[in-house]
Amino acid sequence: MEIPDLSSMKLSSRPELFDFEGVSMIHYFTDNWEKVKNFQARPDDVLIATYPKAGTTWVSYILDLLYFGNDSPERQTSQPIYMRVPFLESCFKVIPSGTELADNLPTSPRLIKTHLPVQLVPKSFWEQNSRIVYVARNAKDNAVSYFHFDRMNMGQPEPGDWNTFLQKFIEGKKVFGPWYDHVSGWWEKKQTYSNLLYMFYEDLVEDTGREVERLSSFLGLSVSTKEREKITKGVQFDAMKQNKMTNYSTIPVMDFKISPFMRKGKVGDWKNHFTVTQNEQFDEDYKQKMKNTTVKFRTEI
Ligand code: A3P
Repeated sequence: MEIPDLSSMKLSSRPELFDFEGVSMIHYFTDNWEKVKNFQARPDDVLIATYPKAGTTWVSYILDLLYFGNDSPERQTSQPIYMRVPFLESCFKVIPSGTELADNLPTSPRLIKTHLPVQLVPKSFWEQNSRIVYVARNAKDNAVSYFHFDRMNMGQPEPGDWNTFLQKFIEGKKVFGPWYDHVSGWWEKKQTYSNLLYMFYEDLVEDTGREVERLSSFLGLSVSTKEREKITKGVQFDAMKQNKMTNYSTIPVMDFKISPFMRKGKVGDWKNHFTVTQNEQFDEDYKQKMKNTTVKFRTEI
């Protein structure tokens, strides 16, 4: 599909949050709901699922290179990652909707991205037993990354200052709902759905090569050591930050002067944001919200 001209993609005002099937949402992700709900997945589709800012773009690019890295160089140099890996529920009007992009993907398998909580994923993915890669990131770094993203992205609700944002994050009043329900809902799903790989952003930072290997083995791919090393190098933070096809610099609604999309790429940046009081409040609340799940996160490595 042709790459759209995004120069007209200026949004006049920030969207408002509203309740959608029990989850906070904005209209960009619900306007196309009938088509999303009835989306026809295929058995060889690979769905990349995350809470926003958990490393979606990173894993999307790794998968793209694993499958198509040796295809035409033109794909790597002229197709932004958001065209190669459609964002299923997105409906931004000035570019084709996620379902339309996915329906028209020429590749096999199709790589598709979603931020939907597990209960809202179109049922055909389960019926087709498609492979799913879920990426989770510790709540504190996830919140910090989301805060800076909302500051620079006019397609997101107004974040307010850090403290206001953090309180809303704790209350689950963020696009795609509470982080807590998202990561634990997908974690529970993993217990019964075997075609799901649950990954952690912290593991990717700690040893990207090891995680690339884990991914290729989950996907049933045989990738040579040399190839794997090449991919691991190409997906390092600095490489992706420089790469116009992965750094989102082609999207005008994002103001990189406020904060770049590829911001820091670190584990533990929360320490530069949380006050002692905020941290204590957060930890106390976290214990309560996460008491019924076994999923465990590292806030430092
Ligand atoms: P920070 O804001 O903490 O820097 P998503 O793709 O889900 O929107 O996630 C974006 C976050 O992943 C950003 O986090 C971004 O910098 C980080 N990220 C993207 N590519 C990365 C890479 N190659 N290495 C480390 N972090 C990466």
